[in-house]
Order: sequence, then C-alpha cells, then structure tokens
Amino acid sequence: MSTTPFDPYRPVAHLRPPRNWINDPNGLVFHDGHYHVCYQYNPYGNQHANMHWGHFRSLDLLSWEPLPIALSPTAGGEDADGCFSGNAVSDGDRMVAFYSAYREDRWSQPVTTAESHDGGRTFRPRGDLLIPRPPDGCTMYRDPYVWQDGARWRMLVGAALADGRGAALLYESPDLENWTYRGPFCAREPQDVTGTRARTGKGWECPQYLPADGGRGALIISAWNDHDGPQCVTALVGEVRDDSFEAGPPMLLDHGPDCYAPALLRAPGGRWLLWGWSWEARDDAWAAAAGWAGVLTLPREITLTDDGTLHQQPAAELRTLRGEHAVHATGTAHGPEPVDLGGVGRAFDLTARLEPTGQAGLRLLTSADGSEYLDIRLDPVAGELIVDRDRASLDARARGGAYRMPCPGGEPVDLRVVVDHSIAEIFLSTTGQALTLRCYPTGDGPWRLQARSAPGARLGYAVDAWELLPLVIKEPSADAAEPEGRSA
Ligand code: FRU
Repeated sequence: MSTTPFDPYRPVAHLRPPRNWINDPNGLVFHDGHYHVCYQYNPYGNQHANMHWGHFRSLDLLSWEPLPIALSPTAGGEDADGCFSGNAVSDGDRMVAFYSAYREDRWSQPVTTAESHDGGRTFRPRGDLLIPRPPDGCTMYRDPYVWQDGARWRMLVGAALADGRGAALLYESPDLENWTYRGPFCAREPQDVTGTRARTGKGWECPQYLPADGGRGALIISAWNDHDGPQCVTALVGEVRDDSFEAGPPMLLDHGPDCYAPALLRAPGGRWLLWGWSWEARDDAWAAAAGWAGVLTLPREITLTDDGTLHQQPAAELRTLRGEHAVHATGTAHGPEPVDLGGVGRAFDLTARLEPTGQAGLRLLTSADGSEYLDIRLDPVAGELIVDRDRASLDARARGGAYRMPCPGGEPVDLRVVVDHSIAEIFLSTTGQALTLRCYPTGDGPWRLQARSAPGARLGYAVDAWELLPLVIKEPSADAAEPEGRSA
C-alpha cells in the first residue's frame, strides 16, 4: 500500500487500511481458500459516517490482499446512508453477505444481502430488503449473523425490546432466501456481568453464535445503551433447546476497555477465529489529526471448553511474526530495586511465566527517566491481574485507568502479551482470558522491560520477547482503488 509517514501509534501487525475510520469486523468467512475480513469503513474521512465494507483477504492470516470495497451505500436505496454490520457465508461458489441497511429516516436497520460469484472481488446488492420489518416490540434492530446448522441456515439479529430487554432474535431458512421468524433466541434485562461492574446493556449489537458439541454453544453480544452507546462485550454459555438458548450468567469476553463488536469466523478444521474492533482511546482531535482511527484486534482462536468458559489465544500462525529474540531472562525480583530484563521495540510478542509471592509484575518503560510506563501487575491475594495505563502516556489526551481480570493466586501464571505501537493485547494463558487496551506513549527513546515486586514480595520470572514483524499488505490491484472526491 502507499507509503505513509512514520506514525509511532500505527500498529504494524494488526489489520486496518492505510487511512480513515474503521469500526466493526464484518463479513468474516473462509471462502474460495481465503480468509475474508471486511470491516466498517468510511473511505472519505476519519469519523463514523458513510459506512462501507472495506475488504481484505488472506491465505494464511499473515499476508493480506486489499480487495475492492465490498459494499457501498446505494444513493436513494434501502442502504442509502450506510451498509452497517453483518456477516457472510460461503455457499458453493457464492459468498453471501448479510448486512444492516441504514437510512437516517428509519429507526431500524433491516437485513439485506449482497452476493459475490468471483471470490469476493465484486458484490451484487439485492437492492430490496431481505427482512423488511423487525418483529413487533423492538426499539433497536440490526446486525445479522448467519450460520449453517445441519440442513438449515439460522440467523440472529441484534435487538432492544420495548419491555427493556436486550435480545438476539432467531430466524431460520432452508435456502438463505426465505426466512421465518422463530422468536427471541435469548433476551434478558440488563444484568451485572459476574465479578465486574459491567452490565449487559439494553440493546445487543452484533450477536455472534459459536456452536459446540451436543447442542452447547456460546452467544457473544456487544452490550449497548441508547444514551451512552457501546459498553462491553459479554458471552453467554448454554444450550439450545428447540429455538431458544438457555444460558448461565454473562461473562466478559474481553476484560479491557477497548475491544468491541467482535465477530467470528469458522475456519477449516472446525477452528473458530475471532476479531474485534479496538477503538481509539485518545481525544477526537488527536485521532482526527492522525488521519486514521480504529484497528482490528489480532485474530484469536476461541474455544468453548468443557468447563463452560471461552478460551482465547492469538491464532497459531502469528508465531511466524516473531523476529529477533530480544529478551530472554529468568530470575527472581525482590524489592526495592526492579530488575531490568532488556530492551524491546515498539512492537513485540512476549511470553512470561510469573510466580509472585505478593504483588508483583512486569513494567514496560517507555521513557528513559522512568516516568512513563504500562504496568501489568499480579495480585495473588485478590486473585487478579491488573493492567494499569494511568502512566502509559504523559499526554493528557490519552485515556488512563486500571483494568482487572481474574487470575488465580497460588500457582504460576502464564502470560502472552502482544504490544503493537498503540495496542496491547494481554492473554492469560492459564485461564484463556483476554484484555485489550490502547495506549499512546510519548517517549521517543527505546522501550525497556522490568520485573518488579512490592516490598516484602518476590517474583520468580521467565520472560521471552521477540520483535513483532509487520503483516505483509499486498499492493491493491487496480480495481481496488479507493473512491475519491467526496467530503466526509
Ligand atoms: C457496532 C455498530 C453496529 C452497527 C455498526 C455501524 O459498533 O454500532 O451495531 O451495525 O456499528 O457502524
């Protein structure tokens, strides 16, 4: 893609186009031997407007080819003001995208489709609506998700109901064309997410369903409220009985502040991959000046385990992006002096086994004088891992905060941390939990890692860090040129 000036905050191993605004991953499907990743995209500017579906494809999750924009609003049409989120399925030689048709003069975003017969290079929109009207009693309605279930197809659509419940509404079809409404697959009043201050929201955006053996499955929803917008991402694990999903208490899918609207892709061999949208955590003017906003998370392998939890880890292919082995350190830290583990670049992939006897952890120092840093702390007594970005940027326009995920004490903790310029994804390998956040260090010197422990505590550590190599983004073909000449 075109050469852009060096931007210290632009991730290199995370997918996004060179410029402009992106949000949700869309249309994730393995088709014609390729992983297809589309995303909500404004080709005209750096704010949420003019939503199109941008499009990449890849054979291996490492080298990506930009394809022509998959979906564009049709002037005067049902999607005149935007092609909102949805997914896609592979059906023989055709790829069918299901999406939310947005018009400013309509409160709901009903379902429509577009079809490709050339491997996703071009899509033919159907023009009219596939499901013209939401069922009675909805106050929000968007984001279809279609999957194959034996001989039939099923679809969920995200909704808010007038009685105050968030819902995923179920439809069924024999042929992807004729759809019958079956009622709410799952609907709940806003409720607390176990062990957190998060709530499940009045509306459920971008429902995703991961079917597992024996009728078990996981429903992933992005919690949304009409006044304060996106909240968090939760997962419900349960069983399908007839047409309804009976599930246990909600769990957080990502414990960080900056992951929303994740979407699933069913890969060959029964593997499930998940990408999320990681928004900017800096003020709008700063993001606008950068000329780009938003990035997709790493592709994650996600599994529903026998104990009813969802485990996530970066897709195995990403190990190929490990370059120079920058840090290899084992030892013990006991306060008050931190132990220097070595230098890392602005993009690195780290594994650590940590054995704390009290509060202890790793610090990523991003300024030479030690005043700017991102902390990853373990608190074995509270049973928590804390990622603290309060001092991760000396620029007051970057958001702060400390975020926690459960982490059992009394046993070694295995971590995987991928930092890519302004995004950090932290995976607790021991429990499969994930935490995503953005941070914007201002220091221009080399970054260093430290092992630290609180007074009276010790930290046994074994840390390895590798340079994280960039994804290969191929040159777009001539037909993938961007539209020009419109203002945002
Ligand atoms: C989630 C979302 C979807 C909608 C899309 C619009 O972030 O609000 O519900 O379809 O983004 O861009």
